[in-house]
Amino acid sequence: MMNVDFSKRLEGKVAIITGGASGIGETTVRLFAKHGAKILIADVQDALGISLCNDLVSDQSFETVFVHCDVTKEADVKNVVDIAITKFGKLDIMFSNAGIPGNPDFSILDFDKENYTRVFDVNVLGSFLVAKHAARVMIPEKSGVILFTSSTASVCAGVTPNSYTVSKHAIVGLIKNLCVELGQYGIRVNCISPSSVATPMLTSVTGLDKTVLDDVMCASSVLKEVNPSADDVAQAALYLASGESKFVNGLNLVVDGGYSTTNQDYRRLLQQRFENPPPLL
Ligand SMILES: NC(=O)c1ccc[n+]([C@@H]2O[C@H](COP(=O)([O-])OP(=O)(O)OC[C@H]3O[C@@H](n4cnc5c(N)ncnc54)[C@H](O)[C@@H]3O)[C@@H](O)[C@H]2O)c1
Repeated sequence: MMNVDFSKRLEGKVAIITGGASGIGETTVRLFAKHGAKILIADVQDALGISLCNDLVSDQSFETVFVHCDVTKEADVKNVVDIAITKFGKLDIMFSNAGIPGNPDFSILDFDKENYTRVFDVNVLGSFLVAKHAARVMIPEKSGVILFTSSTASVCAGVTPNSYTVSKHAIVGLIKNLCVELGQYGIRVNCISPSSVATPMLTSVTGLDKTVLDDVMCASSVLKEVNPSADDVAQAALYLASGESKFVNGLNLVVDGGYSTTNQDYRRLLQQRFENPPPLL
């Protein structure tokens, strides 16, 4: 049995978190730091990333740096990985989390090549580049963890725009191929698929504030008595990054309180239309 200090599950580990300046990434940065990881926050939002970094390093037990990194630019991705090696000597965990929703293109008639290219550049090309440069330094060490943020859009259709949905399916394809290719070097590759979480991405896309979004999410949730939050996703990332998941490889871990397992419309309609609903089959 492994001896695990549950208060320091990533002690001595070095992690890069892309999209680490905001939302799910920021929450994961804070959680990983608390668990003893040295972290490189890789993001395009310099002011936010630097301020998060300063906030963390004010506690002297945390080692965190911010590196400007646009995941669509291979030179930037190479640079952040190289900084991990020069500054900390290794890279144990790569969390490819940066992502954008793009414009609403629910109807195929609204398909806009420019929007599609932008979404795919960040969500898919960015994931390839991040995986490539993580693998470059992990393969010689014969160890490492590569994680991605996909979405429940990868398992539950018709809720998010077409380009976004397809980009998140692509990440699941990528982790499945990579878990086979990199498994031979002891590198594990998994992804997390969260349902809606009231991060800056969601508040800006919907124009709704966090309280309203939280309310809608709780009302639509299958699992009651839980407020879905970025911390639920960060905790899943902590599990997949830590040694406790050492035999978990190629998994799309859906963090949605069971939302994507069901469709309640038939049941709800019967209940709405009939005072005494017929027995359900
Ligand atoms: N919030 C949700 O409801 C939800 C649900 C499922 C999946 N996700 C996924 O979670 C991930 C994080 O999203 P979030 O909700 O925390 O949003 P967010 O907007 O708060 O954070 C995303 C971060 O990614 C960064 N980013 C964007 N483009 C980048 C680029 N080219 N290079 C580097 N960084 C870049 C942004 O600057 C931002 O800091 C995304 O991949 C998103 O698709 C979010």
